[in-house]
Amino acid sequence: MSINIAIDGPAGAGKSTIAKLIAKKLAYIYVDTGAMYRTMALYFMRLGIKADETDKITCMCRDADISIEYRDGVQVVLLGDENVNGLIRTEEVGNMASATSANPAVREKLVELQRKLAAKADVVMDGRDIGTVVLPDAKVKVYLTASSAVRAKRRYDELIARGEQADLDKIEADIIERDNRDMTREISPLKQADDAVLIDSSYMTIDEVADAVIALIDKE
Ligand code: DC
Repeated sequence: MSINIAIDGPAGAGKSTIAKLIAKKLAYIYVDTGAMYRTMALYFMRLGIKADETDKITCMCRDADISIEYRDGVQVVLLGDENVNGLIRTEEVGNMASATSANPAVREKLVELQRKLAAKADVVMDGRDIGTVVLPDAKVKVYLTASSAVRAKRRYDELIARGEQADLDKIEADIIERDNRDMTREISPLKQADDAVLIDSSYMTIDEVADAVIALIDKE
């Protein structure tokens, strides 16, 4: 049976950075489930579907052809044959993903894809419902968080480093709104699994967090 590590937490807590580093250290596969919800959101946006058009979202998500490949160890999300990795990292797509991921049909489809990946290989999977819903039997579960101010500053620094414009207050307000939506939705809300270990990364380095997670595996 494959060994799975589940990392959940709010936007900007450092989940993907940590999960990638752990995957590299342990030679596991990193599965970024947020990228799948973002790709679904991009698909809806291209169809001109708005976040509140629930019936259209339910109906059209069935036809979405989303798959995952690994190229040189990097997760590539395909929409049909198109590699959309470079198109899904915008705030607009992130907000649309947060809104449309509340739809049960969207979740059902992507959870199935995620479980198939985890059954085939040792994975570090990050998202919002991995420990609670997708992989309830994961060997290690972590709930990774940080204060909204720290998370906003990290996003801000990332955008500035990419040469983009950024407004720190707006980013923090968006983060708080997104967390609130992800935590209060009816289906699979973001919450700490009963058996997950809470790690607050506000004042920890990336290596300190990765080592803390790896220590949990050794303890099992
Ligand atoms: O982690 P991220 O910012 O790339 O995720 C984008 C949105 O997708 C997030 O706001 C909520 C949704 N999501 C989810 O509902 N469940 C997951 N397992 C991963 C992401």
